[in-house]
Amino acid sequence: MNETADLDITRFRTGFYSEVMRGLPREAYLSDEFMRRENERLFARRWVFAAFAHELAEPGDLEPVTVGGQPLVLIRGRDGVLRGFHNACAHRGAKLFNEPACAKRTLTCPYHAWTYDLEGKLLAAPNFGGWRQDVPGFDKSAHGLKPVSLGIFHDWVFVNIDGEAEPFEAFLRPLKEALEGTDFGRLRPVARIDLGVVEANWKFLMENFIEPYHVPVVHHSTTEQPLDDHYPLVNGACIGSAVDIPADRVGRAGTLAVSSRYLTLFPTFVLGVYVPDEVGVHLNIPLSPGRTQQYRVIYQIAGEPWNEAKIAAQRRLWYDVHKEDHAMVERLQAGRASTATATGGVLSPCWETSLYEFQRLVRESVA
Ligand code: FES
Ligand SMILES: [Fe+2]
Repeated sequence: MNETADLDITRFRTGFYSEVMRGLPREAYLSDEFMRRENERLFARRWVFAAFAHELAEPGDLEPVTVGGQPLVLIRGRDGVLRGFHNACAHRGAKLFNEPACAKRTLTCPYHAWTYDLEGKLLAAPNFGGWRQDVPGFDKSAHGLKPVSLGIFHDWVFVNIDGEAEPFEAFLRPLKEALEGTDFGRLRPVARIDLGVVEANWKFLMENFIEPYHVPVVHHSTTEQPLDDHYPLVNGACIGSAVDIPADRVGRAGTLAVSSRYLTLFPTFVLGVYVPDEVGVHLNIPLSPGRTQQYRVIYQIAGEPWNEAKIAAQRRLWYDVHKEDHAMVERLQAGRASTATATGGVLSPCWETSLYEFQRLVRESVA
């Protein structure tokens, strides 16, 4: 019996491609100019995953985030609504926040003490027109924090910097279709893992998550998911792979041997479903062409709440799995120093089809 019979995702299977494709050229992973174009044309124009809502639960909670190289800040207002702003003062643009914090009533710039309410409105520009003087005619209402669009899906906060991306619901649709049958009603964060800075381009982390080809080679000690049970998936901007493991095939304790969905929503959202009770979400933050910061939050979605020992075991398992992946993506990055990688290598028409579709979206976005 297949334990994921009610989670049929096979309609999004890519099938076999008729030829061996080329990967992205090495500049895509090395060049500052390519990343500048990604920041401008890709990250600023799309919905980009930025933060976990449960970490911003109370009015006044705020978190600086980086999207497309730009400093933003997410702030929960006194009205309970989460908003996003450029993390730059309306006076001369000083970055307002370096660390997460909880603001009581107002936000004050540390440079000249311009003060905003939690909804981003400028309340005071002290001494701007002279000692205890306003500038006559200076309209404070036109000098609040500059907002960015924000959308929330379960615990996941997305922002769109230019405000012109497709409607948030339309953006989510392909992921929601792929997740049909998964019950998020009891989604509960149980652990956050700080995976540090990976010495690799953000696309290598995404591509590594999307393709199943490496799984039995790289994860032989942490997972028991045979390659031939995997298949790549594409549904528009929802790209990934899945593995269906019959319930009667028993895995070793402490390893991953369950039916899973490895889904991404372009560009950087990553969500894994591990039947029957676990979800994992990665936050990938591109820092430079060769460096990416990564976090993972582990969620439980069903069953009795896990005890501390179970949470610690999952934490360890996922840390180990990520480190196995990091060693490989750092090799991909190091390999790009070689001119032999100029034309991007070759992709499997069987296992790297969804990876190719991810690269197609990158190409289209920066063109
Ligand atoms: S830059 Fe913020 S008050 Fe001057
Ligand atoms: Fe992996």
